[in-house]
Amino acid sequence: MSILQGKKIILGVSGSIAAYKSVELLRLLMKEGAEVQVLLTPAAKYFVGELTFSTLSKKPVFSAIFDEKNTQHYWANHVALGKWADLIVIAPATNNTIAKLSSGICDNLLHAVYLSATCPVIIAPAMDIDMHEHPSLRQNIQNLKKFGNIVLPTNSGELASGWVGYGRMLEPHQILEHIIHIFMPKWHQSLSHRTVLITAGPTQEPIDPVRYISNYSTGKMGYAIANAYLKQEAKVILISGPTVLPEPSHNNLTVVKIKTAEEMFEATRQYFSIADTFVMTAAVADYKPKQKLALKLKKHQDNPSLHVELIQNPDILKWVGHHKKKGDFVVGFALETHNEEQHALEKLTSKKADMIVMNSTQFPNATFGADTNEVIVYTHTHPKYHIPNKSKQELAYHLIHYIETVRT
Ligand code: CTP
Repeated sequence: MSILQGKKIILGVSGSIAAYKSVELLRLLMKEGAEVQVLLTPAAKYFVGELTFSTLSKKPVFSAIFDEKNTQHYWANHVALGKWADLIVIAPATNNTIAKLSSGICDNLLHAVYLSATCPVIIAPAMDIDMHEHPSLRQNIQNLKKFGNIVLPTNSGELASGWVGYGRMLEPHQILEHIIHIFMPKWHQSLSHRTVLITAGPTQEPIDPVRYISNYSTGKMGYAIANAYLKQEAKVILISGPTVLPEPSHNNLTVVKIKTAEEMFEATRQYFSIADTFVMTAAVADYKPKQKLALKLKKHQDNPSLHVELIQNPDILKWVGHHKKKGDFVVGFALETHNEEQHALEKLTSKKADMIVMNSTQFPNATFGADTNEVIVYTHTHPKYHIPNKSKQELAYHLIHYIETVRT
């Protein structure tokens, strides 16, 4: 069962082009089993219609502070809603909304509910670069943080104006990570003493300048583990193959982008000595073409079949397992289609790992690129540990917690 199952969440949406992403955030929350009440500011309705939100949330959407027909009913609602919620998420929060929340202005239903609430509040800003750079925003955000709200950073990228810079609202799955974190049992142990090297995503092994061999990995699991560690204050080195996931940014994070298994291996060896925890989630291509052709391979009519000679790539996990230092902890992943337990245990031994996290194509929800995962974890010292189907973010927390349990 998801940690968000049955949680009462108010999703406040204000008037920004990023409001379209709130629809996806709502969908993710509903998938996790949360009960979501959407509140739109009047400006938000210019961007996304109420019908979209009410259909997905299976509830009417509230917007006006006064209703012409039934003023009393809506006016009473802001207190009731504020007390009802386990969490308020305001995404996107425009400059205008942030300024009003910061100074206690109460001119729409969302602001009124915010002022009545006693639950945690997450604010995901979205605005163009000019507003983002204005000192008033920094001041307002500082105020909101002082009041105990969680104000998320923004992503850098192309903005509605065409300018490039900070101001893009975080992606829905990044906001979901923060939401899940609020509800995770409070884990007071800081991992600030850990330096974690994580490999993630697929590798690409070039055949010629325009083709490569790769696999379906998206990197979601590795990125979720990186975020979970960052939340627990660990230092993280994320060595990532090509993915479409937005690059996380954090003071404690180093991201190394690579394409091939050889490059991933080189980066791993470069950071090996400073890390004490290794979580190898990458789907490394086991083989690569013996040679990368300098020119594009052309099709020949008289040659209906083609042979590309493949040679083995280095086994990065195995290298780490065999070179680990005293006190290091090495975690491998194994995706299996059959004889799962036997193969997982073989990998635990042959790669000298301390833990193998196995998922199987036989598990009912197993699909590449899914937002959820189910695993069985094998170690040398503890009985096997089954983590049932959960969002990858939630599963990441269970895993890093379990790693600490096993290594002590
Ligand atoms: N791995 C690695 N380097 C490789 C291959 C795999 O570091 N060249 C790591 C993966 O990141 C994962 C673990 O090894 O943590 C298991 O990968 P998997 O492909 O399942 O194992 P293989 O040893 O390649 O075995 P097989 O493909 O035969 O199942």
